[in-house]
Amino acid sequence: MAVSSKILGMMETSSWIRRMFEAGNVLRAQHGADKVCDFSLGNPDVEPPQRFQEALREVVGATIPLKHGYMPNAGYSETRAKVAENVSREQGVRVEASHVVMSCGASGGLNSALKTILNPGDEVVATIPCFMEYASYVDNHGGKLVLAPSKPDFDLDIAALESRIGPRTAAVLVNSPNNPTGRIYPRSTLQELSDMLTRAASKAGRTIYLLADEPYRKLVYDRAEVPGIMSLYPHSIVVTSHSKDLSLPGERIGHVAVNPLAEDAKRIVDGIVLCTRILGYVNAPALMQRAVAKIQGLSVDVEIYRKKRDLFCSALRSMGYQFTTPQGAFYIFPRAPGGDDLSFVQALQEELVLVVPGRGFSLPGYFRIAYCVDTAIIERSFVGFEKAARKLGISP
Ligand SMILES: Cc1ncc(COP(=O)(O)O)c(C=O)c1O
Repeated sequence: MAVSSKILGMMETSSWIRRMFEAGNVLRAQHGADKVCDFSLGNPDVEPPQRFQEALREVVGATIPLKHGYMPNAGYSETRAKVAENVSREQGVRVEASHVVMSCGASGGLNSALKTILNPGDEVVATIPCFMEYASYVDNHGGKLVLAPSKPDFDLDIAALESRIGPRTAAVLVNSPNNPTGRIYPRSTLQELSDMLTRAASKAGRTIYLLADEPYRKLVYDRAEVPGIMSLYPHSIVVTSHSKDLSLPGERIGHVAVNPLAEDAKRIVDGIVLCTRILGYVNAPALMQRAVAKIQGLSVDVEIYRKKRDLFCSALRSMGYQFTTPQGAFYIFPRAPGGDDLSFVQALQEELVLVVPGRGFSLPGYFRIAYCVDTAIIERSFVGFEKAARKLGISP
């Protein structure tokens, strides 16, 4: 067999998100694209801001020596400086360009950071439900993802996290605003997390790093605060991208910022630079680096997503669905009527509505709606949500 048994196994249990997206392609071919309501993929349909288009045109039109050439693996120094200014503002800690490494999206940044800090057999603790690519990213670098439950309202359960920390724990990985729940962890919870990590690290006799995966940081509603993790815990590494906040997922542009106060900060940065190269990314895309440097701090119009969220939430609530209103990102994570997420997802699919079962985020019994789609599709889906809910026994 040409394909390794490990990869074969992973192919068979491939991501539920991708699986549902592919099921959507089959349904689209059978019934016509306009009949299918696909909420499976977090692929934003909101156009990047006008200012991004202008910035990109400026870069493309400019004469710059070696514009398309190799560059330092960390990225252009001007871009790193602009990113550092913005990270300093968001995180409440002075971050210099030398602490920033440009990456191929948040995924690339996470892989470079994990490869840098993990020894074989090290563990990374995360919270259920979570973006399950984390398991592969940690495994890629010889580590193991260890999962802890969250609270019923999807806030971090600090005691549960603490119970998962042991001598092999290298890092805790948090994602706020969260995919799939839309939860934003409040400052008080993050302070508790910081205190717990300090305690646990001293017990374990090693530094435990806090990795914050923040691609949804700018997509927040009702003036919710996303506290800066760097100001709360010194040994922190923030990873993010412009996949969601500027609607550029196909352009693979993001960055990693290492807290200057972190243990071994300089060597971690150097490690991330090296790993960016040897993982084969080499460096983040050149044109995108130059374009996003001009618009740090900017995001798509969040009001567009807020309106979609409100429309969806009020319709689902009136149908009897149970969920916590998301505070950020563009996902809703309701309980599956009837309790079995697979049966429910199947019932919805029969109505040509596609969502992802909760088990795709390690939490069966729920399902995820990605509402980063046209409002007309959201409105068209309500009949299907109503029918599937009735089929499985809930009513308004
Ligand atoms: C929580 C989370 N982290 C990371 C990523 C990967 O982002 P990127 O496309 O920037 O690699 C995603 C993408 O959906 C995500 O939801």
